[in-house]
Amino acid sequence: ASSDDFSAPLLAWYDRHHRHLPWRTPPAETKHGVLPDPYRVWLSEVMLQQTTVGAVQRYYLDFLDAWPTVDALAAAETEDVMRAWAGLGYYSRARNLKKCAEAVANDHAGRFPDTEAGLKALPGIGDYTAAAIAAIAFNRPAAVVDGNVERVVTRRAAMETPLPQAKPMIREIVANAVPDHRPGDFAQAMMDLGATICTPRRPACVLCPIGTDCAGRVLGEAERFPLKAAK
Ligand code: ADE
Repeated sequence: ASSDDFSAPLLAWYDRHHRHLPWRTPPAETKHGVLPDPYRVWLSEVMLQQTTVGAVQRYYLDFLDAWPTVDALAAAETEDVMRAWAGLGYYSRARNLKKCAEAVANDHAGRFPDTEAGLKALPGIGDYTAAAIAAIAFNRPAAVVDGNVERVVTRRAAMETPLPQAKPMIREIVANAVPDHRPGDFAQAMMDLGATICTPRRPACVLCPIGTDCAGRVLGEAERFPLKAAK
């Protein structure tokens, strides 16, 4: 970690206030080394790429019911998978989902690779998804950066560099803050903070567990960040 070590208060907040979501292992269990099934983490992260947490939950549970393992999904009829996906949108995700399941089943003996590089070599898995699976399912200290995380970090630093130019700086800050223990909980705590407290409009700074040294809050203008480059 670095000079800006906000992971301890963030994780303490997550222990109390984490959202109960069906693909998560409760923090009390991850603290004792229990990690979630990589198949479930992958399935949830692909669904969450362009769809809200609220909309994903029912689909996620239906998929697990129909195809409880990556081998089951690999053996499914593509038509059935597409039908189960209907309503989630961005159908290339569903086609890649099936291709990825086949690759894991056929080329990796049904086990997901446990590194970011190995994961990124699979269909439909990009930087974000590889980092999320590596951190959450394999306890790797990967820098998981989504829109929520960008908002939290740019506000904290009162970062005047606009997106997308700010992305490398954001990634660096997150990489330095990831704790070696509980990297998956850290990633999901950042997402929960961005979704429930450090919200796009009217952030609830008085409730923020890492607000004391947030430059955006101190300036009274957290909502101004992140800046976006003119198109
Ligand atoms: N959005 C993307 N991945 C998520 C996760 N694991 N928990 C909550 N929101 C998310």
